[in-house]
Amino acid sequence: MKLTNFIDGKWQDVGRTEYTPVFNPANGEQLAEVKLSTMEDVNIAVEAAVKAQKKWALVPAPKRADYLYEIGRIMKEKKEHLAQVLTKEMGKVIEEGRGEVQEGIDMALYMAGEGRRLFGETTPSELADKFAMSVRAPIGVVGLITPWNFPVAIATWKSFPAIVAGNAFIWKPATETPMMAYEMAKIFEEAGLPPGVANVVFGSGSQVGTAMIEHPEVKVISFTGSTETGSKVAELGGRHLKKVSLEMGGKNAVIVMEDADLSLAVEGILWSAFGTAGQRCTACSRVIVHKDVREDLEKMLLEQMEKLTIGDGLDETVKIGPVINKNALEKIHSYTKIGQEEGATLLTGGTILNEAELAKGNYYAPTLFTNVTPNMRIAQEEIFGPVVSLIEVNSLEEAIKVNNGVKFGLSSSIYSRDINKVFHAQRDLDTGIVYVNAGTTGAEIHLPFGGTKGTGNGHRDSGVAALDVYTEWKSIYIDYSGKLQRAQIDTQVIGG
Ligand code: UN1
Repeated sequence: MKLTNFIDGKWQDVGRTEYTPVFNPANGEQLAEVKLSTMEDVNIAVEAAVKAQKKWALVPAPKRADYLYEIGRIMKEKKEHLAQVLTKEMGKVIEEGRGEVQEGIDMALYMAGEGRRLFGETTPSELADKFAMSVRAPIGVVGLITPWNFPVAIATWKSFPAIVAGNAFIWKPATETPMMAYEMAKIFEEAGLPPGVANVVFGSGSQVGTAMIEHPEVKVISFTGSTETGSKVAELGGRHLKKVSLEMGGKNAVIVMEDADLSLAVEGILWSAFGTAGQRCTACSRVIVHKDVREDLEKMLLEQMEKLTIGDGLDETVKIGPVINKNALEKIHSYTKIGQEEGATLLTGGTILNEAELAKGNYYAPTLFTNVTPNMRIAQEEIFGPVVSLIEVNSLEEAIKVNNGVKFGLSSSIYSRDINKVFHAQRDLDTGIVYVNAGTTGAEIHLPFGGTKGTGNGHRDSGVAALDVYTEWKSIYIDYSGKLQRAQIDTQVIGG
């Protein structure tokens, strides 16, 4: 299977026709080949998008939304197929694959609803016989750069608000997971979206990403990926005065207080730390635990970790799938060595799994470190794998300080049954997402998604907040007085 670009409603393969293989991380099997596009492809896509967007912007928003309802309907019809493709190319277990596709369906329906809202403001003018309002105006062509860990959900967080607001988009999916993008392009085609509104250009960040950022007609870049790449995107985008929305790394913590329901906390930690094999921006990679319950929590975690089944995510009984590729495996493993050298105690895991069938894929044993101190590298840097560091603290104040003492600020969580502690924590945890008595993952699509500090640059995916990325505010004043009225000058003085 050869995956080629979807541009202007057609499957196009122009210019350099170089392809790269796509592998199943569970068993190394080659699934497809994907085009490595160049600037030439990007230019063709942008040209088509610019043309299409002009007409698209004039389609009433509720009618634009009808296409999203249709996209949502088709996704629902194909849910199982999409989930299977997702698991095969990305590796997450099938139950999570289905959940991720559902996230996309939810986003389609939610953003379709926005077609009948897209609220602006009407507000009184300070002058007589004058009307004032603000509306959301589309921006034009937007460039979307998405990661491999949520190959469909994140794309829907960005593309659906973009099109309901009247923009056209060029989407560059990660080269590791082009099959989901290919499936989505087929859905855009089936839904009858006007040619050029949705374009998929496959290829590397250095070629396709750079060409998109540098193209003068691409007005917005929305990027999800590593902090390192994100800062390069921002730098280049800044030079070209682009609006750049960034979602990047995390070093998310679950705080477990002495009054917590420990069994509940253990379940939340396991789900957040080892779901998607720890390859989530929202993954729990630190557990900050009160000294009174540290030993109990450690024991309970170890007991439950032993039961985690590892293997091909298509097997319904498997709880943890592979990591994306060999490079990821090596990077994760290097952190085990770093942790040991730093003096942390490795309680379990810390190995690449090579027995029998597992040798064909990229599997890492769920790993737990204890006696970790807040400034160790394993407690500071994003590992993006199934590795958790336990840090002991003496108080809530200290827990919050440790939580906040990293360069990222995506998600955090606190387990406590004390309402006062919980409210203090939700105020003082400096992350974009805070969970109480739940793990660090599981963001819902109708709330803003994003983080503070090194995680983002102030923008948000998801929720109504996403519309801020893909619209410009336009303030409109209509003076029907028939005379010159000067704001701030022709004022009626009240009270002398
Ligand atoms: C991500 O890891 O980039 O909250 C997205 C969650 C998912 C999305 C994660 N709904 O874990």
